[in-house]
Amino acid sequence: MKLLIIDASMRNAKATPRVVKWVEAAAKKNLSDIEVAVADLQSLNIPRFDEPVSPMMNKDRQPEGQVKDWLDMLAEADGYVFVTPEYNHSIPGGLKDAIDFIDYQIMKKPFLAVGHGGVGAARAVAHLKTMLNANIGAIPVPKSVNVLGYVGYTNDIDETGAATTDAVRGLEPALVDALESLSWYMSALKVAREV
Ligand SMILES: Cc1cc2nc3c(=O)[nH]c(=O)nc-3n(C[C@H](O)[C@H](O)[C@H](O)COP(=O)(O)O)c2cc1C
Repeated sequence: MKLLIIDASMRNAKATPRVVKWVEAAAKKNLSDIEVAVADLQSLNIPRFDEPVSPMMNKDRQPEGQVKDWLDMLAEADGYVFVTPEYNHSIPGGLKDAIDFIDYQIMKKPFLAVGHGGVGAARAVAHLKTMLNANIGAIPVPKSVNVLGYVGYTNDIDETGAATTDAVRGLEPALVDALESLSWYMSALKVAREV
């Protein structure tokens, strides 16, 4: 099975890659038989959403370029971790655009939300869970992980993805628990999708 970790930040000066590396290391260490890949929305350079028809309603849709690359990456995976900061009490606008391009690639597949920011991106995580589930039909795992603080300024997670504070080290059992829950849903839903 394949797990795709998505770096949802598009800023050059972004802190999200540190959190992504923290999640990636935990996934590689604790999830056996799962191939782990990372998609960086900034590098993918996905354009603003501008299609004439809602993707789910467009039978003749033929995505190209960066949009196709993004959708193919999603389609190949069995589960996802979205790592997102919080901007103005929600997810970054670039992540919303990337979500608006999705049609059926992630339907009936599970995802875990990992947020970071002043209140652990609690509002961004809540919005993300609703967005991906309500219309697109991806399945949020019951747990989320909220890293409290401005990681880019406080260095709570260093550039290699290692936790440098007791607060973040204390979150690691919850991260592993959430990843194991995600792995359970990946296995169960893969079987269910094939029935
Ligand atoms: C435009 C902008 C808006 C932000 N709004 C919030 C916010 O509403 N609540 C919060 O807790 N943090 C907010 N933050 C702080 C970021 O969530 C935090 O610094 C995060 O680590 C940034 O991740 P990034 O560097 O990958 O973009 C905001 C940061 C930016 C750049």
